[in-house]
Amino acid sequence: MDIVVCVSGGGTNLQAIIDKIADGTIENTRIAGVISNNKDEYALTRARNAGIDAECISPKDYADREEFNKAFLAGVEKYDPDLIVLAGFLVNIPPAFVERYRGKIINIHPSLIPSFCGKGYYGLKVHEKALERGVKVTGATVHYVDEGTDTGPIILQKAVEVMPGDTPEVLQKRVMEQAEWIILPKAIDMIAKGLS
Ligand code: GRF
Repeated sequence: MDIVVCVSGGGTNLQAIIDKIADGTIENTRIAGVISNNKDEYALTRARNAGIDAECISPKDYADREEFNKAFLAGVEKYDPDLIVLAGFLVNIPPAFVERYRGKIINIHPSLIPSFCGKGYYGLKVHEKALERGVKVTGATVHYVDEGTDTGPIILQKAVEVMPGDTPEVLQKRVMEQAEWIILPKAIDMIAKGLS
């Protein structure tokens, strides 16, 4: 199974996928390419360090959204992927792209959907809202991507305890370590095995 991983940030989820392909936790899978919308983010370095084709395709480099959408679609299509993994990718996926790859795009979200998700809920904001609400348990979710924001069918979820005195940063790190870096590779392996 050839996958393309799309990232916007530091790429710790990408690293978890790279490491779990290398140690055999994820089987029958190859990262064909990595695409980021931020050329200076560390995720691209992680990909290159692992010998994976990596490039930046950023809306900032195009005259308008339509031009960017075309370039992004072409950037993905050239790898002919079986699966597209959004691993902290903060660019809105155009409906035409969802249509083209329906059932072949998955996303990791740092909460137990349907809590703390949807427009405006990304990165640290999700954990700030969880702490503000005072939940005792949060976690992460891997789901298929449809035209909505965080609305596609859920593949895997994992709960994580909120501890007294947690800051958004501390909680974010625990959710990554105890949930995201586990369920995203597992979901990819399940899909490679035809189990989802
Ligand atoms: C992760 O928390 C992911 O759930 C969210 O964005 C963050 C990306 O982190 N969508 P990283 O770039 O994988 O370290």
